[in-house]
Amino acid sequence: MKTVLIIGGGLAGCYAAVRLQATCNVTIITKGARADSNSMLAQGGIAASLDPGDSPQAHEADTLKAGVYHNNEPAVAQLVTTGPALLEELIQAGMPFDRQADGQLSFGLEGAHSHHRILHANGDRTGAAITSFVQSLLHHVTWETHTEALSLVQDAAGCRGVVVRHLPDGQPQVKTADAVILATGGLGNLYDFTTNDHTVTGDGIALAARAGVALHDMAFVQFHPTLLALNGRCYGLITEAIRGAGAVLVDENHTPIMAKVPQKDLAPRDVVARHLTAWQAKGHKLFLDISAVADFTEHFPGVTANLDRHHVPFRQDHLIPIQPGAHFMMGGVKADLQAQTSLPRLFAVGEVACNGVHGANRLASNSLLDCLVSAAKAAQAIQALPELAPAHVPAPAAPTPNAGRLPALEALQHRAWAELGVERTKAQLHDFLQWLRQFDYRDIDPASLTPAALTVANLCLCSDLIAEQALVQPSLGAHYLKEAQTA
Ligand code: FUM
Repeated sequence: MKTVLIIGGGLAGCYAAVRLQATCNVTIITKGARADSNSMLAQGGIAASLDPGDSPQAHEADTLKAGVYHNNEPAVAQLVTTGPALLEELIQAGMPFDRQADGQLSFGLEGAHSHHRILHANGDRTGAAITSFVQSLLHHVTWETHTEALSLVQDAAGCRGVVVRHLPDGQPQVKTADAVILATGGLGNLYDFTTNDHTVTGDGIALAARAGVALHDMAFVQFHPTLLALNGRCYGLITEAIRGAGAVLVDENHTPIMAKVPQKDLAPRDVVARHLTAWQAKGHKLFLDISAVADFTEHFPGVTANLDRHHVPFRQDHLIPIQPGAHFMMGGVKADLQAQTSLPRLFAVGEVACNGVHGANRLASNSLLDCLVSAAKAAQAIQALPELAPAHVPAPAAPTPNAGRLPALEALQHRAWAELGVERTKAQLHDFLQWLRQFDYRDIDPASLTPAALTVANLCLCSDLIAEQALVQPSLGAHYLKEAQTA
């Protein structure tokens, strides 16, 4: 039986495991607990053309338009045509998507969609519902939680395993495999303000980069327009589905900020995030006015709980204080339509992968669908691989502590927000790289760093790759160079 290691326990990793568990020995390795992933936090839902009045072609057209036609078109075609059948399968298996009173599936609307096509489960707790449901289908899979991947093991056949250590202070250990799947999510914690789970720190991208695996589109980071913002800090996502239900972005004078922009409050995310950032730069405060949203607390129980936890008086004034923040990485480990990376036997699925499906700006609620589609494709490709004799890999030498310098995480996040954020200039990108490159995050032995230092080193490496590509990538979608607009 083939052995498969999956790094990451979110929707993409778990769904790949579901599809492989009958024929392979599967182990899921995850840095946190089973519930620690961006998938678990997803609120908006999962987009698919399951409504009889909708079509894969319309979904494809919306995805390409939001992605500013920078998408890999065959990947988009694969997403919109393969995704609905995978969802039907999950529904048949008992996945409880929200339904209307007559029992029909209920479809929501989000930014840049031309059709109501977003499925939700448990209101705005869709990610937790679908990820937990998929995890409940795992019957023959080993979990190694609180275990971090340090490096990839390679031989002539390709990727043959992973060096891992148990947290907080285990020794490096080699795990060999016939194939490895990266499913580690993106890098939201590079930034001061993010919607991401605390475990999402660019680890998969850094692992791949150190192993010489090809990356793609690293300049494209998506900033979500609406995070709950209180006293200069952010406390999670305020789902775009609330704007889909009629909420409006306003300032402290109740001026509707998006009124003069095509598609208004439901314009693509990059457009809305930039507009809000410009408005904020003029000294305004930003709010989501929910007075037009019917049955808010019933439809958005997760957001309601978060607002109540932070004592936001939205029931009185119908205003939620918001600001943009880092949400999703469109770039990442280059993968083909079968999720195969440039290293044989290494696959990348979900947010860590860049198969080009999202282009320069991901269409809302396409990421959970891509988790399913890319994981199913990786599983299919792995089933077709020949089984190999176990790789002979010497046990790793005991690491010597690293004496190199790294920045404080907060300093890195602060600079990344200011210089690799919603709006960028070439001068800022050069400044960022000059500052960053005084530190020792390249050519390191990951095992020589403490877990906290490795997190910083991984984020440094990711930010270097973002800045490098942002200097040569023309302004497009979520990668916005200010001087390109004024030239
Ligand atoms: O606003 C949201 O609920 C986000 C959805 C998504 O990122 O797909």
